[in-house]
Amino acid sequence: MEIQKLINRYHSCKIIEEKIHLLREIISMCDYYYYVKDESLISDREYDQLFAELQKLEKEYPEFVTPDSPTQRVGGEPIKEFRSVTHKKPMLSLSNTYSFDEVKDFDRRVRELLPGENVEYYAELKYDGVAISITYENFLFSLAVTRGDGISGDDVTLNVKTIKNLPLKVKEVIYDGKPIRNFEARGEVYMNFSDFERINEERISLGEKPFANPRNLASGTLKLLDPRQVAERPLRIVLYYLDAEGIRLKTQSENIELMKQMGLPVSTNSKLCKNLDEVFAFINEWETKRHSLPFQIDGIVIKVNSLEQQTKLGTIARAPRWAIAFKYEAEKATTILKNITLQVGRTGIVTPVAELEPVFLAGTTISRATLHNADYIEQLDLRIGDTVIVEKGGEVIPKVSGVVLEKRPPWAEKFVFPEYCTCGLKGRLVRIPGEVAYFCQHPECPWQIRRRIEHFASRNAMDIEGLGEKVVDQLVSLNFLRNIASIYELNSYREKLIALERWGEKKVDNLLNAIEESKTRPLSRLIFALGIRLIGEGAARILAKHFRSLDNLMRANKEELTKIYEIGEKMAESIVNFFNDPKEREIIEKLRYYGLNFEEKEEVSFSKPLEGLTFVLTGELSSFTRSEAKAKIEQLGGKVSSSVSKKTNYLIVGANPGSKYDDAKKLGIKILYEEDFLKLIQT
Ligand code: IVH
Repeated sequence: MEIQKLINRYHSCKIIEEKIHLLREIISMCDYYYYVKDESLISDREYDQLFAELQKLEKEYPEFVTPDSPTQRVGGEPIKEFRSVTHKKPMLSLSNTYSFDEVKDFDRRVRELLPGENVEYYAELKYDGVAISITYENFLFSLAVTRGDGISGDDVTLNVKTIKNLPLKVKEVIYDGKPIRNFEARGEVYMNFSDFERINEERISLGEKPFANPRNLASGTLKLLDPRQVAERPLRIVLYYLDAEGIRLKTQSENIELMKQMGLPVSTNSKLCKNLDEVFAFINEWETKRHSLPFQIDGIVIKVNSLEQQTKLGTIARAPRWAIAFKYEAEKATTILKNITLQVGRTGIVTPVAELEPVFLAGTTISRATLHNADYIEQLDLRIGDTVIVEKGGEVIPKVSGVVLEKRPPWAEKFVFPEYCTCGLKGRLVRIPGEVAYFCQHPECPWQIRRRIEHFASRNAMDIEGLGEKVVDQLVSLNFLRNIASIYELNSYREKLIALERWGEKKVDNLLNAIEESKTRPLSRLIFALGIRLIGEGAARILAKHFRSLDNLMRANKEELTKIYEIGEKMAESIVNFFNDPKEREIIEKLRYYGLNFEEKEEVSFSKPLEGLTFVLTGELSSFTRSEAKAKIEQLGGKVSSSVSKKTNYLIVGANPGSKYDDAKKLGIKILYEEDFLKLIQT
């Protein structure tokens, strides 16, 4: 066997440089078999030994270290921020379809544009991960860029380098007499369910918030600034696009085959289809088979196989005319509703939660699902003991979407919304007129205290690592934490914390350091972290920019606040009430005393090409979330409003637009599709 020969050669070799070279080859080969082909060539132990020997030799002889050495996957220090890189060709999105009829329409359009030509399709799994562009130069991995806004993305090379199924050097493959030496490949970074669940379990045991789904985990991981942390998370890559410099490629199916020969990870579950019936057969086949995949797919991508035909077809506003995504319906399962419990949020909002008989759905086991509010329970006429339908859409957070009435047991009980909170202090649950939610009114409700502290410490707020749900729970129960200011007094409990079970010096010091570090967070994060009702991240940024210090914001009255375009009556009222509350004032004074940053630092100035323009968004954009799109528009000087009026300059339309689309049409407002919007923000 080839690997054994290499190992023997390594052991008998006397020349250092040659030894290092052999080790590298052995390890790369083992990685390839293990991560791409799912085969172990040697035992884990032997692998670890060889790896350690390579590390040792490279340390002694640094002159022989090469960039494609497996030891170079994990780089040095964390970086400050990602560099932005413009894509060679824009990274497009796909139009979605949900029915065979729509696929037939797609096929008809394709054939109309290619009269008399024979069309073949290449059908692939649609991996539910994060799009990535990878560049190889001179056969070596050299660059990885996220999709970003489709035009430019973040340079995440160091992070992607840690992904073990991606070779740092590709095999030389000859095409049309030329080696494929410099090329760009595109694909998806994703994570298997098993790894996702293991990481979430670890996080839960550390008191950190679990990730909602493997895609979020993959995208959160790619954005970590410390490649060493990334290396601890087993991301994977699959590639589905190739563009080689100076080489005229012919078909998608051939490109996949070439990438496979180069040793790159490609899907083995694709199919070249001669006609639509074969495409439909493939879709049907995977409708059930997808459940046995170790990773999440959210549909099938159908691509015109000939690249020449692809070029002829070209792209329209948002997506190529030569490809389409067929999405499977949300996955559903039935199970028993055992109970309905209440969850208290940081602002006292009480959310009912369905406690379910555990059921396996789309790769994960579900035992709880949100019921949103009392009205939702009423509408579904849910009763404890009912057999219910649970659903997971694109998001993995499941919801109860219906009841199987035929299965209702005679003893099924109607749910009466409790009068009192579960906080133990007998806080009354009240419904604010005009709102669906119930609130716990007790000012010292320990659940609210927990949630407020958790929110304060969360990633998008003050980002205090190690202060997640479980830890907050524990520290509130022990009375070490009583409010958000007491976080900054935790250092006086250092010894007591170290003595706690499962803590220890290192964990405590890490936490205390993270707390110390959080004192310098930007003002906008602090405003968001305070947990003022109705003030989300976007509003917090606007307030920070406008007032420039927490003291200025605290002094503002309702009129001043509502003068800011994005701040409505209710938000203004909530802000004023918050800062008028003596208890909140006391907490803020403590935060000042502990040295938290209350000032807005000089901002980097952007040009404001969208100044004076008002935008409204409808439908789902594929390159941004709503809040990202909003932030981008605001950063460029534009305004975003929630409804269409005569003052609206543009309506940005994503997939499945709502009634705003009709409103805009009626008023003759300019419509921008995603691609147009991308162009606009690029200029
Ligand atoms: S082709 C213009 N193929 O789906 C062609 N995309 O909704 C666009 N995706 O951004 C990419 N699996 O992140 C293609 N086999 C596959 C895919 C795939 C997943 C993702 C990709 C893309 C998004 C479009």
